[in-house]
Amino acid sequence: VEKPNMPYNLIGEKKLSMLVEAFYHRVARHPELSNLFPDDLTETARKQKQFLTQYLGGPPIYTEEHGHPMLRARHLPFPITESRAKAWLGCMHEAMDDVQLEGPVREDFFHRLALTAHHMVNTDEREQ
Ligand code: HEM
Repeated sequence: VEKPNMPYNLIGEKKLSMLVEAFYHRVARHPELSNLFPDDLTETARKQKQFLTQYLGGPPIYTEEHGHPMLRARHLPFPITESRAKAWLGCMHEAMDDVQLEGPVREDFFHRLALTAHHMVNTDEREQ
C-alpha cells in the first residue's frame, strides 16, 4: 500500500537519488573519508540508494538483494572514529543543501542518520 506520509514518499525517488550522488561526490573528496572507500563509488552509491529507500519507509529493496542490513557488522572492516562519523554527517548535511532538501522531513532524516552514524563508531580516535 502507498503510504503518502512516509519520508520516502515525501522526498521522492528522484531527490533521494540526487542526494546520494551529491553525498558520494563529497565523500570522494573528503580528506578523512576518501581513503576508506573504493575509487569507483558506483556500486557503493547503488547500495546506499537501496538502503536509504527502505530506511525512509520505501520498498525493502536493499534487503531483497543483500539480506538483513546489519549495518554495524558491515562497517566493522573499516576503522570508524567519532571524527569520521562527524565527517560523514558533514558530507550528508552539505549534500542535503546541494539538492535543497528542506523542512521537517530533512530534520527528521538527518537526526536519524546522526544516531545511526554514531552507532557505527567502532574505533577509538587514538588507535588511528
Ligand atoms: C558501506 C563508511 C556511516 C550505510 C560503507 C563502506 C564504507 C562506509 C567504507 C564500504 C563502501 C564499499 O566498499 O562499497 C562509513 C563511514 C561512516 C558510515 C566512515 C561514518 C559513520 C553509514 C551510515 C549509513 C551507512 C550512517 C546508513 C544510514 C552504508 C551502506 C553501505 C555502506 C548501506 C553498503 C553496505 C553493503 O556493502 O551492502 N560505509 N559509513 N553508512 N554504508 Fe557506511
